Amino acid sequence: MSKTRVLTGITTTGIPHLGNYAGAIRPAIETSQKPDTESFFFLADYHALIKCQEPERVQESVRAIAATWLACGLDPERVTFYRQTDIPEITELTWVLTTVTAKGLMNRAHAYKAAVQDNIDDDNADPDRGITMGLFSYPILMAADILMFNGEKIPVGKDQTQHIEMARDIAGRFNYIYGDTFKLPEAVIEESGMILPGLDGRKMSKSYNNTIPLFEGEKKFRKLINKIKTNLLEPGEPKDPDDSALFDIYSAFASQDQIADMRQQYANGIAWGEMKKVLFEFLNEELKEKREHYLTLMDDPAQLDAILKRGAEKARDLSVPLMADVRRKVGIGPIAG
Ligand code: TRP
Repeated sequence: MSKTRVLTGITTTGIPHLGNYAGAIRPAIETSQKPDTESFFFLADYHALIKCQEPERVQESVRAIAATWLACGLDPERVTFYRQTDIPEITELTWVLTTVTAKGLMNRAHAYKAAVQDNIDDDNADPDRGITMGLFSYPILMAADILMFNGEKIPVGKDQTQHIEMARDIAGRFNYIYGDTFKLPEAVIEESGMILPGLDGRKMSKSYNNTIPLFEGEKKFRKLINKIKTNLLEPGEPKDPDDSALFDIYSAFASQDQIADMRQQYANGIAWGEMKKVLFEFLNEELKEKREHYLTLMDDPAQLDAILKRGAEKARDLSVPLMADVRRKVGIGPIAG
């Protein structure tokens, strides 16, 4: 049986939160366990440099994200799990792809256009003010990540689908000029991935500053859950579960039966204070073991390095020959032939 190759990158900025877990980490790990898939997950640390120029934060995030995925059950024997920066062929391929990518295609990228629009809205004389070539060329690096390993299904958030379309365009262009080389990737928007509300009820997101870190210590974790926004209904008054961040977060972790039971408790008028207590205890129980595993890994960076090094070796078994093929096709190689 030929396996479908699933590939996705995780930009290493920030520390994973509950929303990342329910929306991306958990569904990706579940997919990786299916017998008919072959997964490539990597830490996009070159992408991180586009968004964050604080070395300590970049480093801390790589470590935290690697430890999180492993603690959440990613099996590095099954999945090829590596750091983008351990695969020099990716940056090499990025350049070759840059030479076949139309500038006009990059002009249309949403992230670039939004940055230009911000400058226009701020009445800046230069619409490109503060925009790096890294941001502008971001989709080409991402195309190289994907095409290097012939990724077929690319699980991403909605905001990234345009980048996958661009990777297809770039692959098509290369194939047209130099002959069939790359498979055309397809975006998959994770259906099982959920969008969790954050502390203020809006989508949990770093940019809203409303996140609950996945592996926060117990005390702080309880404090944050107590901060989740509710309304002014008194204990005993029926409450609407479909308009409650606490309920949404609970549901992302609970079984169907538990969810149904909780609906009933809302109808019966459970007090917000009580609901917060229930949610804390429930999540704490769910995450306890993983948190311990996470802390053990965070305390042992050498082990993380060893795991990622092994992943990079597996990845390079593929990237080295692919890059050799690309070099040959474009006419770069020994002059003696
Ligand atoms: N740009 C993606 C994000 O911010 C991360 C990423 C980098 C990626 N390279 C990738 C995702 C390749 C999928 C495939 O979410």
